[in-house]
Amino acid sequence: MASIEMSHIVKQYGDGYPAVNDVSLDIADGEFMILVGPSGCGKSTLLRMIVGLEDITSGDMVIKGDRVNDRAPRDRNLSMVFQNYALYPHLTVYENIAFPLRLAKVSDDEVRRRVEEAADILELREHLERKPANLSGGQRQRVAMGRAIVRAADAFLFDEPLSNLDAKLRGQMRTEIARLQRRLGITTVYVTHDQTEAMTLGDRVCVLRKGVIQQVASPRELYEQPVNLFVAGFIGSPPMNFLPATLKDGALSTPFGDVVLDEERAGKLAGHDLLLVGIRPEYFEDASLVDEAKKPHGTTFIARVDVTEWLGDAQYAYIPYEAPTEIAEQLKELSRELDSDQLRTQAIVSIDSTSRIREGREAEFWLDTRKIHVFDPKTGDNLTRDVEAGRRLTEMAEEDRVEQVGRAGSPTSG
Ligand SMILES: Nc1ncnc2c1ncn2[C@@H]1O[C@H](COP(=O)(O)OP(=O)(O)O)[C@@H](O)[C@H]1O
Ligand SMILES: [Mg+2]
Repeated sequence: MASIEMSHIVKQYGDGYPAVNDVSLDIADGEFMILVGPSGCGKSTLLRMIVGLEDITSGDMVIKGDRVNDRAPRDRNLSMVFQNYALYPHLTVYENIAFPLRLAKVSDDEVRRRVEEAADILELREHLERKPANLSGGQRQRVAMGRAIVRAADAFLFDEPLSNLDAKLRGQMRTEIARLQRRLGITTVYVTHDQTEAMTLGDRVCVLRKGVIQQVASPRELYEQPVNLFVAGFIGSPPMNFLPATLKDGALSTPFGDVVLDEERAGKLAGHDLLLVGIRPEYFEDASLVDEAKKPHGTTFIARVDVTEWLGDAQYAYIPYEAPTEIAEQLKELSRELDSDQLRTQAIVSIDSTSRIREGREAEFWLDTRKIHVFDPKTGDNLTRDVEAGRRLTEMAEEDRVEQVGRAGSPTSG
């Protein structure tokens, strides 16, 4: 197992454009790190520089304490688990897993011991004599991981391994990868453009935008304390709503009425005339369903609902609002960059599935103002971010990880 330390990593392709721009990122031994961001943000390039398939323009790549910039992929002892699984169709599962050991001329007895051990971990024992064509997508993925396990690779690297699967299988595989990674405790770097995968798999998530790191944090910190508009808009589904607002006497005037902030947060907004208020769908509720005890923590407003979507366990209401042209343009640009077709001048509001709020009518909503964030539309910075609260969330995730590794014991292959 290994730690991976990247310091000021830059990658310029032929045209000089920095596909990866000054990335510094430390991945702890045994950690599950996600690289996430929209298509073209440099995720694959960064992963390929870790494994040695791409030259590093500048910076240091340090694995297990050694600088590996000039080392060939085969001398880095990392295992890239490819999207198409790269299995040999004419070989059995057994020989597919054994492949790296055969190359290394390991004795038959030793091969048998290691393949069976890996097959037990991966629950592939009954399938060892089958050919890859007779396996499900999930089983093939496990064979590819088996090959990495018998090699005793220092780290697993995945590049969008689930993107070709249908939604149901993707969900199953996601759970399986998470479970195996926990069990093996092998350092893992996983690339995806899918925020759900990022949030459910990672110990920490590194959000990239145009080759530049935006934020590296636990999923909870990203969700609750995003550093900027980009991260706030990228993480969460349905996405965070951004409403234009102006500051007046310590209150934010928004299309949904005035929002009074506590003094501490209001103080951070001084000097900004136009602002963007970030509100996640679940901070809203049908006002008639909110406990009287809870109501004072927020504000109520009346709005006309355009469309409702009832999903059984949840319900969404869409509320259009007016935004100044400058803000509307900026939100449109942001949603383009986030690969989201979301029209940003309507708010998506999550209400209880029992709510009787109906389309085309006015209704009273309640908004929990405790969790909202306020952004500077010029720089995108989150002006109300609580750095300390965020740090605590990521620390807690790290404590959980270390405790889980301790419980699982050390990996069995070696
Ligand atoms: N071999 C290459 N030559 C030139 N440009 C490339 C090459 N590979 C990737 N790029 C560019 O580098 C940027 C990052 O690409 P990539 O790392 O594949 O992004 P991602 O995996 O996040 O979608 C993109 O602008 C892409 O067009
Ligand atoms: Mg890619």
